[in-house]
Parts: sequence; structure tokens; C-alpha cells
Amino acid sequence: MDALSGSPLGWLCLGITALFGVTMLCMDKRILAERANVLVWRLLPALLGLLSVATLGAGGGLVVFCAVCLVSSAYLGGRVLLPVGDKAVLITGSDTGIGHALAKYLDNLGFVVFAGVLNKDGPGAEELRQTCSQRLSLLQLDVTNVTQVKEAYLEVSEKVQNTGLWGVVNNAGILGFPADGELLPMSMYRRCMEVNFFGAVELSKTFLPLLRKSQGRLVNISSMAGGIPLPRFAAYGASKAALSMFSGVMRQELSKWGVKVAAIHPSGFRTGIEGTPDLWDKQTKELMEKLQADTKQDYGEDYLLGLKSYFLHMPMHCDADLSPVLNAVLHALLAKRPHGLYTPGKGAYMSLCIFCYFPLWFYDFFMSKMASTESVPSALRTSEAESKDL
Ligand SMILES: NC(=O)c1ccc[n+]([C@@H]2O[C@H](COP(=O)([O-])OP(=O)(O)OC[C@H]3O[C@@H](n4cnc5c(N)ncnc54)[C@H](OP(=O)(O)O)[C@@H]3O)[C@@H](O)[C@H]2O)c1
Ligand SMILES: *[C@@H]1O[C@H](CO)[C@@H](O)[C@H](O)[C@H]1NC(C)=O
Ligand SMILES: *[C@@H]1O[C@H](CO)[C@@H](O)[C@H](O)[C@H]1NC(C)=O
Repeated sequence: MDALSGSPLGWLCLGITALFGVTMLCMDKRILAERANVLVWRLLPALLGLLSVATLGAGGGLVVFCAVCLVSSAYLGGRVLLPVGDKAVLITGSDTGIGHALAKYLDNLGFVVFAGVLNKDGPGAEELRQTCSQRLSLLQLDVTNVTQVKEAYLEVSEKVQNTGLWGVVNNAGILGFPADGELLPMSMYRRCMEVNFFGAVELSKTFLPLLRKSQGRLVNISSMAGGIPLPRFAAYGASKAALSMFSGVMRQELSKWGVKVAAIHPSGFRTGIEGTPDLWDKQTKELMEKLQADTKQDYGEDYLLGLKSYFLHMPMHCDADLSPVLNAVLHALLAKRPHGLYTPGKGAYMSLCIFCYFPLWFYDFFMSKMASTESVPSALRTSEAESKDL
């Protein structure tokens, strides 16, 4: 404390520190939940400032104080949420899974929700009708059907005449059948592109005039498989990668209009996306029918029939609690400064980091270790056995 009492500069610093601490404490009432956490971040600069004035002297103290102030305001800036008010949001693919949960979640928070559904008479739509508020409107919306996209646009733009449309969440998506890219039929590649990429592009292009008017938000639910290469996801991953790249470009282009765009790359969550045993059988059959005889022989029938067991292992890696994804979308919709990319779910961030910051061979090695339980194609099994015999 000698440094402090000894110098007038020390007292000045102390005064400024206290003043900043108090004003920061009183500023911005619209902070997200975690009050205690926020309080700590507000007080931190003042406390550290004081401490370092005492130990390092006035100059050092001021430097530390300023640095901590910057860090803490950057941290808190990321948490400031805009009020929900009467903001209207359109979500595609609300029949099941993430879109369905998101429609309920946002409705509950007070948003005016437009829930696009693939089947307006289906059980998912019916449940939304029964459990959600009067604010929620259901839209018949197959994102690959131009007529339906146009009709949805007319209905939404009529209903939001006064308030505008704040957000569009491109959620509708299909996974297709996870199998080696060589085996997947062309129809699977086309279908994934059609729904996951062209569907989202068409929808975004249609609704962007409304978003530009409200300076709102565009949120794309892409996937971890769209950011990093994952075995068996050639068709799905490529369609999601196209969506992610489009998103990145749009983020740059739309910033001049005040529209913020965010992409969400979830890892595995338990939803309806994996389909049903009946569907897997149908997809396996289609895949085998389209294969050439020699390819079929090389991979072997048991390998091909075993492909669908991937789905049986999936629940182990997938989280049933969707709240990380819901929170990420909420942040993307309401944060004053939303992130460009969110990675909710187990392993999503770590895998991305390994892909981005390590050599490719290391990433491939890491992935092969993760998938070590996979079965081996028949032709490789026989050659393995032969080399053992030698
Ligand atoms: N679950 C995960 O682990 C995970 C991981 C990464 C990314 N994602 C992404 O998150 C999004 C939501 O997936 P989810 O897991 O919630 O799967 P989901 O339960 O299958 O939800 C997707 C929804 O989109 C609908 N849909 C399919 N084709 C459509 C079309 N042409 N037009 C409009 N809607 C259509 C589906 O309707 P039907 O059910 O009637 O087919 C379904 O309601 C997808 O974009 C997916 O790629 C999911
Ligand atoms: C597109 O939607 C319209 C209107 O709902 C419907 O009549 C038409 O059959 C749909 N087209 C396709 C290809 O599904
Ligand atoms: C989402 O994708 C659409 C179409 O691909 C694109 O227009 C939009 O900018 C993307 N937005 C985000 C936030 O990724």
C-alpha cells in the first residue's frame, strides 16, 4: 500500500478505478441470466486495478486496469442480448427434432414464431398447434418447392407488415444414408444438395428483403460434418459445406445492410434425423441395386448390410438434450454481437480445432482412431489374411 499512499497518481488511479467500476456495474440492464458471473466480470477490472496499483505502482496498475477492462467488456459485450419484444422469426423443418424444439422454445420466450413444416397435417404440426401460444403460425413449407416458398413469403410478409421479420433459421435438412462415398448413389448426393443447400439458398434469397428492412438475423443450421471431413458423410457433408461457405460469403456481403449471419455446426444430437429401421433397409436396398457387380464384390455383402448398424451406435455419441443448440440459436438471434460460428455439442469444437490447427495427417489419424470399430470391406479382409499367412 506504500505505492498508493505515496503518490498522487496512485490516488488518481484509485479514483478512476472506482468510478469505472461503479459505472460498469450500473450500465446495461439487459444482461443474460448468470447475474453472479456478470457481476464478477464487472468487478474484476476494479479489483485487479486496485491490487496492481498497490503492488506495481501507479503506472503498472493503470496498464493492468485498462487491459482487464478491455477483456471484460469484450466478454460481457458478447453476452448482451437484445429484448425479445415482438420479434418475428421463421424456422424451417419444425416437424421434428431441433426445429420443433426451437419453435416451442422461441414461442415460450415470447417470439412471434412462423414454424415452417414439411407436413401441415402431420403429428409434429399438430403438437405445435396444441402446445404453443396464439402467436405461433404454421406454414406449409417444403423448402425444395418454389410454390410453397413463395406462398410462405406472402403469408409472412402480410402478417409482419408493421413489425417486420427479425430472423430466419434455415433448419430443414436431411442426413441421407451414411456410407462410403463410393457406394452412395448419385440420387443421394442430389437429394442432400436439393434440401440442405438449394432449399436454404432459395429460402434465404426469398426472405432477405424482409431481413434487410429489419436489419435482422439469418441463422443456418449447418453441421459439424460441413466444417470438417467425416467418414461416411460425403453427400451430407458436401451439401452442408456448400451451405457454410455460402453463409460465410453472405456474412461479408450482408454486413453493409446491417444483417448479421451466423452458422451453427452442431455435433450429434438425438433427433429424428437418423430415420427408422424400415427406411435404413430401403436405403440399403437402393444402394446395393445401383452398385456395379465388382464394387459390390470388393466391399462384400456383409459390409454393405452392416452399414446401417452405424445408426445403432449413433445414440451413444448423441446427446438427447438439445439445449446447447437452442441456446446457440438464441444467442445468434439476439446477441448484440453474435458470433459467426457456433459449435454446440460434444466434440464439435475440439474436432474443428484439430482440423484447423494441426497437420492434415494428424487430423486423419485422429479420425481413424475415433472410428476404430468400423468393419472392413471383404476384399481388404482377404488380403489382410493373406499377408498374415506370409
Ligand atoms: N441431430 C444432429 O445431430 C444434427 C447434427 C448436425 C446438424 N444437424 C442439422 O440440424 C438440422 C435439424 O436436424 P434434426 O436433427 O432436428 O433432424 P430432423 O428431426 O430430421 O429435423 C429436420 C426437419 O426438416 C424437415 N425436412 C426435411 N426435408 C424438408 C424439406 N424439403 N422442406 C422442409 N422441411 C424438411 C424434416 O421433416 P420430416 O421429419 O417430415 O422429414 C424434419 O422435420 C438439420 O439441418 C441437420 O442437418 C443435426
Ligand atoms: C409444391 O407445392 C404445391 C402447393 O402446395 C403443390 O400443389 C405441388 O404439388 C408441390 N410440388 C411438388 C413437386 O411437390
Ligand atoms: C445461410 O445459407 C443461406 C443460403 O445458403 C445464405 O443465403 C445465408 O447467408 C446463410 N446464412 C448464415 C447465417 O449462414
